[in-house]
Amino acid sequence: MFLVLEGPDGSGKTTLCAALTERLKARGIPALSTYEPTRENPYGREIRRLLQEKQVGDPVRFCDLMTEDRRRHLADTIFPALASGSWVVCDRYKYSALVYQSLQGVPAAYVAESNQSFRVPDAAWILRPRSVDTLFSRMGGRSGQAEYFEKRDFLERTMDLYARLPAFFPGENLRFLDAERPVSALLDEMEESLGLRDS
Ligand code: TYD
Repeated sequence: MFLVLEGPDGSGKTTLCAALTERLKARGIPALSTYEPTRENPYGREIRRLLQEKQVGDPVRFCDLMTEDRRRHLADTIFPALASGSWVVCDRYKYSALVYQSLQGVPAAYVAESNQSFRVPDAAWILRPRSVDTLFSRMGGRSGQAEYFEKRDFLERTMDLYARLPAFFPGENLRFLDAERPVSALLDEMEESLGLRDS
């Protein structure tokens, strides 16, 4: 199974990805936790450098870097893991591109077209906070410099676009999760939707 977690910066995706991977392993299911943008190929490394410098440059070129990073990630990491029988839990995927690159000014149709051939996840969850303050307080606890995107108005716009995301991907298995709930409750909910536990 190829599983994806999405949400704005500070929504708790990374913690939840790690926790879901551990839960799966505890059930005897081999599981690999991974993320985008990667750090494993030249495209991912270039993206990380641009984000650190808070200078993403031309938005279409940046979008193309994301697409190429994703293509390599699928080929080098995700498909081999799935082929070996492992489940894959991915922190961000093509849904982030639709949200972030279109907010940078890239036409949504261009982003959608660039990502069209990529494997549709078996399940994808969007962590939805009740307010932007949740995101801010969570990001305050994180060490290191705030990155380019971590600005309040931008966070609000990412929240709004995430809320509308399923309309851009009809037929894909996208569900919302309440980001204010405890991790254990979210894990139970995800396991239920995967048919791993009785509701
Ligand atoms: P993130 O996972 O939040 O990195 P970290 O937890 O290390 O800070 O991702 C970094 C940023 O990349 C994030 O602000 C969203 C952005 N991003 C895009 O703009 N497009 C994409 O397709 C992806 C996957 C991420």
